[in-house]
Amino acid sequence: MKLMIIWGSSRQGRGGGVVSDWVKRHAEADGRLEVDFVDLRELNLPFFDEPLSPFTLASENKDYTNAEGKAWAERVGRAEGVLLITPEYNHGPPAVLKNALDWVGREWLDKPVAFVSYGSTAGGARAVEQLRSITIELGLIQVANPIHFFFYRQAFGEDGEPAHPGTNDNLKKMFDELLRLHGIFSASKNQA
Ligand SMILES: Cc1cc2nc3c(=O)[nH]c(=O)nc-3n(C[C@H](O)[C@H](O)[C@H](O)COP(=O)(O)O)c2cc1C
Repeated sequence: MKLMIIWGSSRQGRGGGVVSDWVKRHAEADGRLEVDFVDLRELNLPFFDEPLSPFTLASENKDYTNAEGKAWAERVGRAEGVLLITPEYNHGPPAVLKNALDWVGREWLDKPVAFVSYGSTAGGARAVEQLRSITIELGLIQVANPIHFFFYRQAFGEDGEPAHPGTNDNLKKMFDELLRLHGIFSASKNQA
């Protein structure tokens, strides 16, 4: 399965690399996933700026006016599953991550989406709850059991692996579930 991993922090001096590196490393080592890792700082999308919503563009057979938006939608279109890694900014996801989601319409449809978050006292859980609502509206299929890192700087050892036993197993279960849902939804699409 082609898995797009999107890391939702783009700010200078960001700290969540320990989390995104851990997810990326395990996804690449899994053997079942072809990983497309998206660093939103590198992607550097402008703020959404289309005269029509992406879903309306598609239903009216129109094209993006922004080349960056079009290329981003095409890249999302090549993914078969999505894993969002988010910090928590003011009890929600960073605006840069919402913006990346807003740029795309039907390319999100029927793709499973899983969540890994990090923060301080709430481990990014409130950001994930908001992302659940947003991604339901975009037509993504929800994977249960997100992974939250509370006080994430202390949650990893020097080897870059989580200190809490069982976290690597939980990430493997997340990949299992992404693959299972992808199997179900791609089979039903083929029957339609
Ligand atoms: C604008 C801003 C708002 C924040 N709001 C929260 C918050 O609501 N909850 C929380 O747990 N941490 C919050 N934090 C602390 C972040 O969890 C911490 O800075 C983390 O390193 C952010 O991820 P990043 O460094 O990868 O961008 C906030 C940080 C910033 C910069």
